[in-house]
Amino acid sequence: MTEQQYQFPKDFWWGSATSATQIEGAADEGGRGKNIWDYWYEIEPERFYNQVGPEYTSDFYHRYQEDIALMKEYGHNSFRLSISWSRLIPGGTGEVNQEAVSFYNHVIDELIKQEIEPFVNLFHFDMPLELQEIGGWENRDVTDMYQQYAKTAFELFGDRVKKWFTFNEPIVPVEGGYLYNFHYPNIVDAKRAFQVAYHTIIAHAKAVKVFKKLGIKDGKIGIILNLTPSYPRSENPADKRAAHIADLFFNRSFLDPAVLGYYPQDLLDLLAEYGHLPEIEGDDAALIRENTIDLLGVNYYQPRRVKAKEHLPNPHGPFMPDWFFDNYEMPGRRMNEYRGWEIYEKGIYDIMINLRDNYHNIDSFISENGMGVQNEERFIVDGQVQDDYRITFIRDHLKWLHQAIEEGCHAKGYHLWTTMDNWSWANAYKNRYGFFSVNLETKERTPKKSAYWFKRISERHGFDD
Ligand code: BG6
Repeated sequence: MTEQQYQFPKDFWWGSATSATQIEGAADEGGRGKNIWDYWYEIEPERFYNQVGPEYTSDFYHRYQEDIALMKEYGHNSFRLSISWSRLIPGGTGEVNQEAVSFYNHVIDELIKQEIEPFVNLFHFDMPLELQEIGGWENRDVTDMYQQYAKTAFELFGDRVKKWFTFNEPIVPVEGGYLYNFHYPNIVDAKRAFQVAYHTIIAHAKAVKVFKKLGIKDGKIGIILNLTPSYPRSENPADKRAAHIADLFFNRSFLDPAVLGYYPQDLLDLLAEYGHLPEIEGDDAALIRENTIDLLGVNYYQPRRVKAKEHLPNPHGPFMPDWFFDNYEMPGRRMNEYRGWEIYEKGIYDIMINLRDNYHNIDSFISENGMGVQNEERFIVDGQVQDDYRITFIRDHLKWLHQAIEEGCHAKGYHLWTTMDNWSWANAYKNRYGFFSVNLETKERTPKKSAYWFKRISERHGFDD
C-alpha cells in the first residue's frame, strides 16, 4: 500500500469510548446496587433533559454482542468501557456480585474474540449511593473502599484486560457536585471541592499502588483527564496570569500529581493563601510520588479562553476558582453550532506538545474527542444519519494529532466519544455523539455515515486529504 498523506502507525489504537451508567441500562437487574444518578433522578427528575433518567439507555447489558459485532465491522481494534462499581460490589464495599462478574467476563471475552482490545475504566462519575451517603470522596475511608474495589477488578479481569484507568475526568464530579451544581450532591463549596479533588488523587494513587503490587503481566495503568488548553486573551501579564491559574485548577490539579508525582507549588501556595488547602496526611506525598501512571488518556473537546478578571470579587464572598479569571468569548472563534462548544482542532496538538515537553513525553492517546449534535434526526436521509460534519471534525483533529506524532509525541491512539448514542448525565439524550444511532424504542442500531468513513481510515491506518 502506498504511503498516505496522514499515515498513522500500524499499531495505532482506533476505537471509541463509553461508560457503564450511560450504556448498560438494567439498573435493577443482575443484582446491581444504586448509584448517585439513580437516586438524583428519583428525587429531582426535572433536573434531567426532558426528564429522562439513567434507566433509559441503549441497553448494552443485553445487547453487548450486537454492539461488539458492530465495532468489529466498523474498524475498531480497541474499545473503552467502564465497570459499574455498584454493579460489581453493590453498596460499594463488601461482597462481590457474581452476576456482575459473569457479565463483565462475557463482555471482555467477546471483545477479545473479535480482536478488540478492552480498555477498562473504574470510575466514570458513578459513585455508589451508600458511599455518597457517608460523604463520598469527602470521606477518606472511601479511598480505601475504592482501592479494594480496584484490586477486585484487577484480580478478576487483569488476566485479559491490559489497559486500566482509575478515573475518567475526575475534575468533573468536583465541578459538578461541589462547585457549579450540575451533579449530585449539588453542593457549592470550594473548600469541600478541593478536599474531594484531593481524595480522588489519593484514591487514584492507592489503586495504582495495588496494581503495581499485583504485577499484572503486560498491564498498563493510567487515568483519563479532560485537558482544556488554557489560552490567554493577550500577552498582557494579567491575562497570562489568569490563564495560568485556570490551567492550575482545571488541568494541572490532576495532571501533575498523576504524571509527575507532585502538585504544582503555585497551586498549593494559592490555596494556602486563601485558607483552602485540603487536609493532607503525613505519607500522602510519598504515596503520590511513588505511584505515577504509565499511560494517559486525554479527552479533548474544546479549549478554555481566559482573560483577566474585570471586576474583582468580594473578598468576603465565598471563594471560587473563578475569582482569578473570566472566560473570554474570543471574537471569530468557530463554534459547533449544534452543541455550543468551540471547535479548535489545534488544541489537540498543543496538548500533545505540552506532554512531550513538560510531562516526559508520557505514552498517551486521545481517549475522547467528538461532536455532540442536538436533534440529529434532521440529518437522516434514507434511514441513515449523514454526519459529514462529524467526519470533518474527526479528520481535522486527526491531522493535528498526526502532526504531533511527526514531531515526536507519544500519541498511541484515537477513540471517539462515543460508540452508540447514549444517555449523558443531566443532558440525557440532548446531544448525540455516536458512530451508531439508536432507536430508543426498539433499541435498533444504525451506523451513521461517519462509521463507514472510520472503518476505511482504521483499515488503512490513515487517509489522504
Ligand atoms: C464527556 C464525558 O466529557 O462528555 C461523557 O466523559 C459525556 O460522559 C460527554 O457524555 C458529552 O457530554 P454532553 O453534556 O455533551 O452530553
